[in-house]
Amino acid sequence: MMNSKARITAIGSYVPEKRLSNYDLEKMVDTNDEWIVQRTGIKERRIADENEYTSDISYKAVKNLMERYDKSVDDVDMIIVCTLTPDFKTPSVASLVQAKLGISHAGALDLNVACAGFTYGLYVANGLVSSGLNKKVLVIGAETLSKVTDYTDRSTCILFGDGGGAVLVEYDEQQPSFLSSHLGSEGERAKSLYCTNLSETLNGEELIGSGCIVQNGREVYKWAVTTAPKGMQSVMNNAPMELKDVDWFVPHSANLRMIESICEKSGFPIEQTLYSVVNYGNTSSASIPLSLDKALREGKIKNGDKVLLYGFGGGLAYAGILINWTI
Ligand code: UT7
Repeated sequence: MMNSKARITAIGSYVPEKRLSNYDLEKMVDTNDEWIVQRTGIKERRIADENEYTSDISYKAVKNLMERYDKSVDDVDMIIVCTLTPDFKTPSVASLVQAKLGISHAGALDLNVACAGFTYGLYVANGLVSSGLNKKVLVIGAETLSKVTDYTDRSTCILFGDGGGAVLVEYDEQQPSFLSSHLGSEGERAKSLYCTNLSETLNGEELIGSGCIVQNGREVYKWAVTTAPKGMQSVMNNAPMELKDVDWFVPHSANLRMIESICEKSGFPIEQTLYSVVNYGNTSSASIPLSLDKALREGKIKNGDKVLLYGFGGGLAYAGILINWTI
């Protein structure tokens, strides 16, 4: 049990207009729609404009949240942007978002846990609000992965897309959202999925890739489908209910075949599993809020539903969190 005093009170999202379909990719690399759909379930992804960055996507996701829930963010006292594709090494995306939104005196920090970023961000926000350190926290998961994708590498360029989602976490003792969690990291496996920056070696090994994502897809796939079902169970071991009582499962949307395998191994029904991978591809830290918001717009998630979020990926790192949905 998390002894939470924090509630998710609003959600918003944004994806760029431009679409990149499997047929477009057929003209760029040696691949085809049939292979991509069969191995990943992905049909298309959204791609940011040349001059559109993670701070722009984050800002638009928050604007969407404000409009839909008639919420002001003037009194937000902490902004957490979960991303692996910041506009700059410094300043942080969160500082840029703070300025774009005109929120004065808010704390601002970026959090990079790749595809587990958003669930890590929620974990941190719940801790800050429940402890009384902050009253109103924006948690944003946003990415411009197209800017760090090698469009000559068919094993990765078919996967990634751009987009963002945002939630507001506010103090609420009566109806807290956060029921239980489980998270961790396996940095020993870091080389399975990386994007170079300053260093050219990792765990003592030389790297390739110069600024683009490099992935050993098979290794990450095997790791995720083996560890995620156990991680989901660990979240439930700390929860006041069992996995069968969960209404919706929202895994990181990396690959639909992986999601199906995780469901099969964990015994959770795929019909109650939410994903954004088919139309948006793998959007890393944005994938879970995009899946949530898509399901809300489709009228699937209702107040009082129990929703199990589970992020996993680069690090390798993972974080699961059980939510009582009461927006
Ligand atoms: O978000 C962070 C976490 N990331 C993930 O969870 C990603 C996990 N991994 C995956 O999603 C999958 O491993 C991939 C979709 C990346 C790859 O699928 P796979 O079924 O594991 O394929 P593979 O890498 O084992 O490759 C199988 C074959 C190879 O050909 P040979 O050696 O059997 O002749 C590849 O060269 O498929 C070939 N291949 C392709 N063929 C057509 C690889 N990419 C493509 C492609 N189109 N785009």
